[in-house]
Amino acid sequence: MRLEGKSAIITGAGRGIGRAIAQKFLVEGARLVICDIVPERISRTEDELKHLGPVYALAGDVCQAEFCDQLLQKALGQFGELNILVNNAGIAVFAPFMEHSEADWDRTMAVNLKSMFLLGQRAARAMITQGKGGAIVNMASTNGLMGERDLAAYNASKAGVVMLTKTMAIELASHGIRVNCVAPGLIRTELATEGGVATSFLKDYLRKIPLRRQGLPDEVANLFVFLASDESSYITGDAIIIDGGQTSEE
Ligand SMILES: NC(=O)c1ccc[n+]([C@@H]2O[C@H](COP(=O)([O-])OP(=O)(O)OC[C@H]3O[C@@H](n4cnc5c(N)ncnc54)[C@H](O)[C@@H]3O)[C@@H](O)[C@H]2O)c1
Repeated sequence: MRLEGKSAIITGAGRGIGRAIAQKFLVEGARLVICDIVPERISRTEDELKHLGPVYALAGDVCQAEFCDQLLQKALGQFGELNILVNNAGIAVFAPFMEHSEADWDRTMAVNLKSMFLLGQRAARAMITQGKGGAIVNMASTNGLMGERDLAAYNASKAGVVMLTKTMAIELASHGIRVNCVAPGLIRTELATEGGVATSFLKDYLRKIPLRRQGLPDEVANLFVFLASDESSYITGDAIIIDGGQTSEE
């Protein structure tokens, strides 16, 4: 098993890609603390996955420093150490730039970027104290590498994730802590459909993707397993694209 005995925190694991990451991590032998802002989502994930291995769920908002402290305390209290942090929780507000509200901007920046700073700092502190290194994998997006209309705050936040990742990687390397981010293209989850990605839009969109389909949460989760495991021991500070070839063609 590729994550045998490793202790990990995964944010936004109530559904979508975060839930898929949690499932794969358990199958690979990890011990988990998972969280989501929607209590019924995260307790359902916990119920559905607990037959696979140790998993503890907390409901709360990763933008709140106190909640980030609770996540750390839970992982250290249950498992004695923390080896992996997956910063996955994220939101997207679909609106033209001229119609983006200040509240949308602030909330998007807080959930998608500030949370990674808050939790990243806390996790790194624990890993430095333990003295055994660790792996942090942040969720970026191809939208952090190129623009897309109607997603100004989202795009800016994800570009921030890429640069936060690189800076953390440089500064934490001497402690044996690797920090990478994953940049998916269009993945089939409720995030996009709730935001109004209609079937007609999708048909046009798929023409831009050489593999001619959306990615699946499990395919993204495989990459998180790799980046969290010792198999990627010489990779740090990178943003790994998983997009069916979309950014290559464009
Ligand atoms: N689906 C895609 O096409 C796609 C593409 C690129 C990147 N991403 C990124 O992947 C991540 C997961 O996306 P998804 O498609 O699985 O979305 P999703 O909406 O299905 O799942 C995200 C989960 O995060 C939770 N969450 C939101 N705000 C939170 C907060 N403040 N605290 C704790 N939990 C919170 C939500 O309740 C939800 O359960 C996001 O960061 C997203 O930006 C998604």
